[in-house]
Amino acid sequence: MLKSSKWIKSPENCNTCPDFYLNINIEKPISRATLKVSALGMYIAYVDGKRVSEDLFTPYCTQATKRIQYQSYDVTKLISGTSRIDFLCAQGWFVGEMPWSKDRTSKALSDHISLIFELEIVDSEGKKFCYVSDENTKVSTSHLLSSQFYDGEVYDLTAAVEELGFAVCDDEAKPELVEQEGEFVREQEVFYPVSMIITPKGERVIDFGQNLSGYVLVDAKGKQGDTISISHAETLDESGNFLTENLRQARQKMKYVLNGERKLLKPFFAWFGFRYIRIDEYIDGDIDLDSFKCIAVYSDMKRTGSFLCGNEKVNQLYHNVIWGQKSNYIDVPTDCPQRDERLGWLGDAQVFARTAAINFDVEKFFRKWLHDIALYQLENNGAVYGICPNVKFAYDTRISAAWGDAATICPWEIYLAYGNREILEEQFESMKMWVDYIHSFGEEEFLWIGGYHYGDWLAMDSDGDEVVTDCDYIASAFFANSTLLLIKAGEVIGKDMTEYIQLYSCIVKAFRKRFIKNGLPTVKTQTAYVLALHFHLTENMELTAEGLANLIKENEMCLSTGFVGTPYLLHALSDNGYAELAYELLFQEKCPSWLYAVNHGATTMWERWDGICSDGTFQKLDLDSFNHYAYGSVFDWLFGVAAGIKVQDDGAGYKHISVRPLTDKRLKFIDVSIQSRYGKVRSSWYYKGDKVFYEIEVPKDCVADILLEDGYSVTVAGGKHFFAKQYNLV
Ligand code: BGC
Repeated sequence: MLKSSKWIKSPENCNTCPDFYLNINIEKPISRATLKVSALGMYIAYVDGKRVSEDLFTPYCTQATKRIQYQSYDVTKLISGTSRIDFLCAQGWFVGEMPWSKDRTSKALSDHISLIFELEIVDSEGKKFCYVSDENTKVSTSHLLSSQFYDGEVYDLTAAVEELGFAVCDDEAKPELVEQEGEFVREQEVFYPVSMIITPKGERVIDFGQNLSGYVLVDAKGKQGDTISISHAETLDESGNFLTENLRQARQKMKYVLNGERKLLKPFFAWFGFRYIRIDEYIDGDIDLDSFKCIAVYSDMKRTGSFLCGNEKVNQLYHNVIWGQKSNYIDVPTDCPQRDERLGWLGDAQVFARTAAINFDVEKFFRKWLHDIALYQLENNGAVYGICPNVKFAYDTRISAAWGDAATICPWEIYLAYGNREILEEQFESMKMWVDYIHSFGEEEFLWIGGYHYGDWLAMDSDGDEVVTDCDYIASAFFANSTLLLIKAGEVIGKDMTEYIQLYSCIVKAFRKRFIKNGLPTVKTQTAYVLALHFHLTENMELTAEGLANLIKENEMCLSTGFVGTPYLLHALSDNGYAELAYELLFQEKCPSWLYAVNHGATTMWERWDGICSDGTFQKLDLDSFNHYAYGSVFDWLFGVAAGIKVQDDGAGYKHISVRPLTDKRLKFIDVSIQSRYGKVRSSWYYKGDKVFYEIEVPKDCVADILLEDGYSVTVAGGKHFFAKQYNLV
């Protein structure tokens, strides 16, 4: 692919976003035209001024030290005999500086934008013409004076466009070109202004009612030279003023200079995390709210999960989880869409992977990302760093337990959800390399002792930034879990896993010897107990479960877990006889709890349990995102335990499931469905007085082991099944 094309760059330093272009001239009618393009940077391709596709932010984010995707477009309908092809380019992920550090010294992969393309045309007589990127491609400046996706753009329609001459070949080594693997990012829902606010500071602010990732479309009518400037933010502060401090170094601003013509304006290469915009500059006169629309953008994943229950706050929580996922699934699973990060943090991704695969079809999305993890590992002796793709080339993330473990957890979850063994075949070496890396780390063969971990990140029992749950404990527990997942994966694809089965048993033995005394974890935190239970590391499940329940009761019936313990907390309780307490935590409204943010008007998931304090002030503005999806993982409990649908290891893709609903009168009813590869799986229950009715739907060709709370069990094949349970009858 693109074999005769050359990587090209601007002949001189272009002080705007460069426009690479060429004119073609074909005499005969055209029967087929295909355009293949990639860039180190981002590109938008146009034929005679028309966008070739609606895909945003191409060629997307990969481990660009190794590989970069190209996209292929059928442009037959757009092209005529004499057409002009343009490629407007911007820095994207790989060029320039990253606004991570205050002095902005963190450098990306390259200091200049590079482009590569091939346009293949077949005329009506079958004759082939190939136009490729080379020294015949021309370059000019553009109206897009600057573009950086954290900072925003300056688009000046009055700026003079200057010819820079012919492109030059870029001889620096370039990553391998691979065909598009991931999902395309596209425009999705449209939101209209909910209100216009004049803040106490006198700022003109528009509220779109939903925190999201995207941008604003402005219908701009103004005179030549009129300016429109817009800032984006997630929230207002406690006095009702526009709050940008939690964006840290990201500026999130759009500036347009008009040329007197009416124009629909939106960013070319930038997106923002926001619910509110502040109009900093506007053409003369009052702001016309009808001129502003907000467009959500995210990876074009098919929605698969639906959830409804009898508690409005839990329903709102699900809404927030969905928007947390939409806002953060922009080509890679990012941590947040607003501040100067927006990167593929592994911990966040693994914590949420199961919920993600319930909500949307994320198979393609994860496969691409996991391939980059494997490639990056090769550069690092099997170590998996905190961020992938690693685009902050100057920034060392940690090799941390629960972050690196995404390398084993995510492939397994994607396999379970979609039943495609290929993901395990593709990732097996990466999973193995990760386990081997931990195995060879440090002095202790069967434990993971030492290293520099993120720990139970943002746990409420933390002392400032210090995590309380011992990191050696967490790391060793995840070592066991990852080894177990590796064994399961290996067995699915027919590998001999004897060596790892022995390793696993040694890890469990060593863990118990070091961290379990008299049947209880020596580390006395909720997260430590949760891991011991969920990973089956304690010999005394009963005592440990009781201990966990006591820790919660002593903490005024509140959780204290962070990124590591939270995803398994309700499972650890309900799997071990404390279902009511699990529900208690779900319904808790005091901070920390899931519903606390809901009560504070959240429309997405917050990064911190206490992101906004009860008096409306903020906990820690330099680490206070209101769009972090990790704690949304509670929905794998709501689907998997409350509604009771779980994929069995021997029936990946929902071929073999168990359905064991766990009712609670406070929820009144639950009705969930998942569109699996085999069809719709649905579990619903509702109370009528004290009687519970169950409706369970199993796809054709699938099998479900149903177990109801009164002990009634039955194995059913595809179809709709109805049951009732009378509580008062024995
Ligand atoms: C990110 C997290 C991430 C973490 C590592 C943060 O800055 O936003 O979500 O997992 O760093 O602990």
